[in-house]
Amino acid sequence: MPGPIWKVKPPLDVPIAGVWLGPGAFKATDGVWLGTLAENVASKTPNVWVTTGKEQVVGLFGKRGSGKSFTLGTLLEGLALKSDAPHVARASRRKAALLFDPLDIYWTTRFPVTSSANAEVRGHFDLAKAWKLAGLEFDVEAWVPGESSKRPSDPAWFKPLTIAVSDLGVDEWSALLDVSVISDPMGQALVELITLVSDTGYSGTGGKEVPPLKAYGLPDLAKAAESTNATSTFHAETLRALRQRLSSLHATGLFGAIGHAIGAILRPGCLSVIMLARLPAAYRAAIVGVLTRQLMEQRAAVAFAEKRLVLDPSLQPAERMILEAVVESGVPRTVVALDEAQTFLAPGGGSPTRDVFIRLVKEGRNFGLSVIVATQQPAAIDRRILSQIETFVAHQLVTSADIDAVVANLKSAIPDVIEFGNLALSFADMLRMLSPGQCIVSAADMNTTLRRSVAVNVRPRATVHGGIEL
Ligand SMILES: Nc1ncnc2c1ncn2[C@@H]1O[C@H](COP(=O)(O)OP(=O)(O)O)[C@@H](O)[C@H]1O
Ligand SMILES: [Mg+2]
Repeated sequence: MPGPIWKVKPPLDVPIAGVWLGPGAFKATDGVWLGTLAENVASKTPNVWVTTGKEQVVGLFGKRGSGKSFTLGTLLEGLALKSDAPHVARASRRKAALLFDPLDIYWTTRFPVTSSANAEVRGHFDLAKAWKLAGLEFDVEAWVPGESSKRPSDPAWFKPLTIAVSDLGVDEWSALLDVSVISDPMGQALVELITLVSDTGYSGTGGKEVPPLKAYGLPDLAKAAESTNATSTFHAETLRALRQRLSSLHATGLFGAIGHAIGAILRPGCLSVIMLARLPAAYRAAIVGVLTRQLMEQRAAVAFAEKRLVLDPSLQPAERMILEAVVESGVPRTVVALDEAQTFLAPGGGSPTRDVFIRLVKEGRNFGLSVIVATQQPAAIDRRILSQIETFVAHQLVTSADIDAVVANLKSAIPDVIEFGNLALSFADMLRMLSPGQCIVSAADMNTTLRRSVAVNVRPRATVHGGIEL
């Protein structure tokens, strides 16, 4: 197992069910196995679980190489488990998981660990066997952003993702074109083109009327830029530059007149990995923004129907059937995960992902949405997001700024005394000394006997960790 056992006082009074962390822990039936307690206790070393029944915002922190992505994979495995293995994950009601993967390292989560020529992979397999984690099955899909990002070396099961142009919002357009849609002439020209194409229609070449379209692609916008409606209002240079950027966007194959609905990407019990590494950074933020925004909008509608079914005593049978159909066919409850979150959620400036995520962490719970953000730099995350985190999983942190950012936002007490050998340590010392794969978990709503943060050794992985360096 990853790290040493810590002597923490007062010692934990471990409940019979093991240590369950997260909202609703006291009566929880749904959860994923995270690892084992890394503290001295009188009893046998207990298992540590994270609850998944209720919605929550989880922050996963740690310096590079401390085990964040490995741990995120552990949690996601639990959500995507297909086998019946109640020692790994339990769910009375399955959720979907949507992971934004900026490094393209999670597609391997589809594969159970097996013996391998690679020594590290083989090591993980041996551990998995010892922990009864070998031979399990997982439901994982990976999406590459746009037909053009598919590579000949890709496995056949990677799916190309398409985003409908009409789904792009102002912030996303600003990021994609690298201009302000509000104040920049090019942005204003774009807004005009969208109006011409989707709303009013316009006179095309030879005076032929082009009717408004509900579904339109980037070439439709480029064509409208040649109309007199556009050329009489905007400088030729502005329109030329805009057409050029639309054509670069088009080359990704990511945008179409018709795109994937978020509901077509998500399925209960399935982990959907959105691979982002192949896209320029500005495009990545827009994709995360538009998909997350769609997810929130759709879940808001489904959650309202769910609430009426439970809370509205005046429902007639016919109405009930309609609502049940809305819930049945609607987007499932989802856990949204974002790795390397510091590149998406920094304060200041315009960021299409950050502004959607601020709403997501504040309102998502009401819509059946949980969030996991993982970052090596908690101090670089917008405070409005940090302050909403209720479950902290902190791996090794070394800078005071990052440690302070975590400690200032913890929702549970820290232990009175921590000892290592003969040394008495502060909480910050302990964070600095954690070994890879070891973390401190602090949850807002703990089992009544657990009102403090606990040290955990993360369990071995049941699927291949794609972050291994070859
Ligand atoms: N719980 C663990 N058990 C065993 N090895 C681990 C564990 N967590 C991390 N490691 C090792 O540390 C390496 C770096 O972990 P990773 O999660 O990729 O780091 P980062 O914090 O940068 O995301 C992994 O490739 C793996 O070899
Ligand atoms: Mg990582």
